Amino acid sequence: MLAALEKKSRDEIESSFQISGKKGLEGTTFVATDPVTDHRYAIKLFSKTKSVAKLELEAEMQSKAAGLGVAPRVYYHSTTEKFIIMDALVETIVERGRREKWTKTPYDYQAMIYALCIRLDKAGIIQNDGNPLNLMVDKHGRLYIIDYGFAKEITPAVIKKRGPQPNINLTLWHFARHLKHYKHLGQNNLNDIVDKYLESNDYVDTALRDHGEKLLKDGMPSVADALPGGESKRQETISTPPPPKPLAMAAPPKPPAMERPERPQAPPPPNPPWKEPKPPAMERPLTPKPQPLSRAELRKWATQHRHMGINGNSKSVDIQRAMAAPPKPPAMERPERPQAPPPPNPPWKEPKPPAMERPQTPKPQPLSRAELRKWATQHRHMGINGNSKSVDIQRAMARHRHEEAAKIAMRAVGKFISSSKKNEPSKPKKKRSKATTPRRKNRKNRSIYRQFVKGDNSKEAMMARIETRRRGR
Ligand SMILES: Nc1ncnc2c1ncn2[C@@H]1O[C@H](COP(=O)(O)OP(=O)(O)O)[C@@H](O)[C@H]1O
Ligand SMILES: [Mg+2]
Repeated sequence: MLAALEKKSRDEIESSFQISGKKGLEGTTFVATDPVTDHRYAIKLFSKTKSVAKLELEAEMQSKAAGLGVAPRVYYHSTTEKFIIMDALVETIVERGRREKWTKTPYDYQAMIYALCIRLDKAGIIQNDGNPLNLMVDKHGRLYIIDYGFAKEITPAVIKKRGPQPNINLTLWHFARHLKHYKHLGQNNLNDIVDKYLESNDYVDTALRDHGEKLLKDGMPSVADALPGGESKRQETISTPPPPKPLAMAAPPKPPAMERPERPQAPPPPNPPWKEPKPPAMERPLTPKPQPLSRAELRKWATQHRHMGINGNSKSVDIQRAMAAPPKPPAMERPERPQAPPPPNPPWKEPKPPAMERPQTPKPQPLSRAELRKWATQHRHMGINGNSKSVDIQRAMARHRHEEAAKIAMRAVGKFISSSKKNEPSKPKKKRSKATTPRRKNRKNRSIYRQFVKGDNSKEAMMARIETRRRGR
């Protein structure tokens, strides 16, 4: 069966097999069942335009994750027909939650998600797309993380930026925040873990991880066995032991794995992942809760803040975090200030009037909104975005104000200079020699080249031609 699947064209796949789930962003997944063994294969068929390099990277990253039992096993990938063949799973955690009428993510699933993220760190990759639709279960209820389209290798730079468990910082951060948007998955304690990790990179909830590992193993070799030393070393580095967790720490007699009673919900995490500005200890005011932004607003804000190096992709963690951070509402939402004072150190140089008679620079009047818009339209050629809310235009306006001020100052200085140097003859402008202008030179070279191409191209003939030209000049 597998050999036959590998040879299939895109059309054959589309016409022969059923779609699993929904059409994804990147492509569609089909499920094919082996008539002899009943084994189910999933074929993720990408769009025709998917780059070969990206497809290969995705297959490679998934294979690495599959090596540690995090992702379904990869059998084959076709760079011509653009698909990956892997083991099929049954349903996403979202579908299961809906079907079984969960009210929150069960403790067991939280434990497996956590343990899988820790395994990803060990596999040396960040999955980087913590969408709950990328959490799938097999027929035993064992969880897997699929979709390695955004996955990246864990490099020393990643460790430096995200700590020793980058998947807690990125992948789990995403899962934790997104699970609660699904009615049947509700709140979860993973947020709490991520927050503690962001506070101190040594943090590991050993009880939850061990419980997750137990559920995941399901007969397969343990991760700790596969990577001797890796596990115990991490545990030793825990400086602040996690606070006792009602069910996780005091292990009750074990009920069948998947029917374990759910852990009571922990109170909301005391420390958000972003640093709030610290008010004086005595009078700590209540931080007003930021209003969540709509998706459209998010995207708009991201686009406007590209210059800050913010990745505009609304899936990126940086942007999501930036959105969640309460200290400053995004610029576009800020109530309009009557007039922004000019920046203290303008990047352009204002002309310096003579020290003795420095004329007073009159403060330029702020431009009205209509004037702003007009100015923006007139300056489109400078690549200025005409949207009056955009950062470009705001900056350009500030610059404009300064230019106006500079002009007024120049005028004053000019009057002063012209009155003192009235009769001084102005220096004649130096004329640029025509022959040396790059354009002329270019033209000349081109004509010599053309002659070479057309005529006799022997070395002697060329030298003779160059000599004639030189003499002629
Ligand atoms: N191994 C699999 N077995 C069964 N269905 C799968 C499998 N992989 C993906 N799917 C289905 O395809 C959907 C999209 O897959 P995914 O890899 O997340 O694609 P995308 O990159 O487009 O998000 C999943 O939500 C799931 O329904
Ligand atoms: Mg996906």
